[in-house]
Amino acid sequence: MPSPAAPMLQVALMPAGRRGSVARGTNLLQAARALGVELESICGGRQTCGKCQIVVHEGRDQTHALSSSAASLSPVTDSERAYAAKNPLPGRRLACACTVQADVLILVPPESQARKQIVAKAATERTISVLPAVRQVYVESIAPDMDDARGDWERLQVALAAQWGLTGLQLDVLALPTLQPALRQGKECVTVTLWQEQQVLRVQPGYTEGAYGLAVDVGSTTVVAHLCNLRTGALLSTQSAMNPQVKYGEDLMSRVSYSMLDKQGLARMHSAIIRTLNQLAADAAVQAGISLHDICDMVLVANPVMHHIALNIDPVELGGAPFAVALNAALDLKARDLGLKLNPCAQLHVLPNIAGHVGADNVAAQLAEAPHRSDDLLLLIDVGTNAEIVLGNRQQVLACSSPTGPAFEGAQIAHGQRAAPGAIERVRIDPVTLQPSYKVCGSDTWVLPGSGQLVPQDARATGICGSGIIEAVAELFLAGVISKDGRFNSALAGTQPRVHASGRQLEFVLADGADTSTGSNITVTQNDVRAIQLGKAALYAGVKLLMEHRGVTQVDRIVLAGAFGSYISPRHAMILGLIPDCDLEKVSAVGNAAGDGARIALLNRAARVEAAQIAQSVQHVQTAVAPRFQEEFIGAMALPHATDAFPHLAGMLPLEPAAGSVPAERATRRRRPAAA
Ligand code: FES
Repeated sequence: MPSPAAPMLQVALMPAGRRGSVARGTNLLQAARALGVELESICGGRQTCGKCQIVVHEGRDQTHALSSSAASLSPVTDSERAYAAKNPLPGRRLACACTVQADVLILVPPESQARKQIVAKAATERTISVLPAVRQVYVESIAPDMDDARGDWERLQVALAAQWGLTGLQLDVLALPTLQPALRQGKECVTVTLWQEQQVLRVQPGYTEGAYGLAVDVGSTTVVAHLCNLRTGALLSTQSAMNPQVKYGEDLMSRVSYSMLDKQGLARMHSAIIRTLNQLAADAAVQAGISLHDICDMVLVANPVMHHIALNIDPVELGGAPFAVALNAALDLKARDLGLKLNPCAQLHVLPNIAGHVGADNVAAQLAEAPHRSDDLLLLIDVGTNAEIVLGNRQQVLACSSPTGPAFEGAQIAHGQRAAPGAIERVRIDPVTLQPSYKVCGSDTWVLPGSGQLVPQDARATGICGSGIIEAVAELFLAGVISKDGRFNSALAGTQPRVHASGRQLEFVLADGADTSTGSNITVTQNDVRAIQLGKAALYAGVKLLMEHRGVTQVDRIVLAGAFGSYISPRHAMILGLIPDCDLEKVSAVGNAAGDGARIALLNRAARVEAAQIAQSVQHVQTAVAPRFQEEFIGAMALPHATDAFPHLAGMLPLEPAAGSVPAERATRRRRPAAA
């Protein structure tokens, strides 16, 4: 404690750039806090957790006009020496162990910053500010005494108020039985896990570290779970699985129908998704080497039908106009109430919905891509079984959904599969020879079928995922194997070995059985092309209606999101007519934006407030029943479109061959490199 007469000294903290004066003798942790720089601390300044490490600048700093050295702080303490004996502390001090003795310039390493910025590695890099809803504090409580009639909980509350300024706390009823054993075992010292500074979720004896959270995106076809360290923000494991409800219906409406037609339908689908979530959590915990009991927070996003089923709400109202949702608001629940097997007191935050077919997954994608903070007019397309489309900028954001069907997620495709190791994700077809080449998820090898190349095990294909089928159909179109209306050129069936009839339809052999994991050919069939055409036409029609609503004919930027593939080629998406014309430089693919948004909401509680604001401010446009939808849909069935112009594809699209002829221009086309 500095004396009232102590001289004032200058303290500067980098990289925050905060500077101010404090009395000589002020504890450095408190000085930093007073100057607006929050350092990590679990032990509350007891010099035991090692989270508040800092580096002292040596020498004169011209920017801050002050000289600083190790002697600017009080001497190294025994506690610091004890900590350094067990953990490396190279050239660093523990801020809570130091007092300020002279002007000093302090460097705060990123891992010591309480609100650290982490860069999330998605298809694009996102910066997330770590400010979680769940955190841990170490506290020394008051020992029971014959003269003290208070309960252990009351004594712990007093200690939490005195040592951390935490008041008005509640104790989860399932944490109550562990309170006394933890206090006695820890000799009245415990680590308390808190939710939103309001509720105690866990009391563990002594000093301990480890609070984790799960961010989950429940898609119609794929479920993805990210396990994160809530203190550091680190992503420890990502697990995914097929949504087990697929067996009750491939698209949303068939699952609504299943719920209507079978009394046990909802219960079955609800139990199935909860089982899958528990399995994903267990797998993630094993991979990260933690216990399921260490997972104390979870964020769930989903489209409205998946949201309702996960919450055991009958989705029947979402099956027909006016598509009423049971609720749009965000929810804070106990994970155990849904049968989730995490920490028994773990919290579950469900992001809000926008409308009947635009759900919390869309809100999460908007959190990640932030159209509401964009100066450009941004078109954000989350491609899934039901595409959710957002168009807007900081003035106004519109959203709608479009029933694309599951083709983009690899379903309803003859050799379709979800994006997983072995799935063909990139395809090229030489327009002259029709020689295909492809690459599978998890391998960098381009396979050239029929070349005699020895195909490594990890490059052997098992099927085609969403991004693979998009590229395959676009390449077939560029090579003249299919025409503008999506039909196979029947003249090729007798002349080209890779095009042949299978039953009543034509197909193109993309991968030879000799090179695949299954030993069978992997083909793209006429029915696959039709499924992609139907999906892309529905998506494009939804985009056009939103643009019409907004009164624009052009967008500045397009972001393609979706868990359907780790990679989608903007050029192929545009050649297919999945997206409207735009400068290709301004089209990007970001992977699973909804999952990334869920992760942002898990790691930053302010993002949950922002999500609620997004859900309230977005203007929902109903497209499913709009008479113009059908008109736009028909035009969009053609590749890339029957009438809309694509000036940014100038020179890339094939000339339409005469029906039934071998395209004459094939012989004169330039060969493109396989991996172009
Ligand atoms: S706050 Fe824990 S060691 Fe400094």
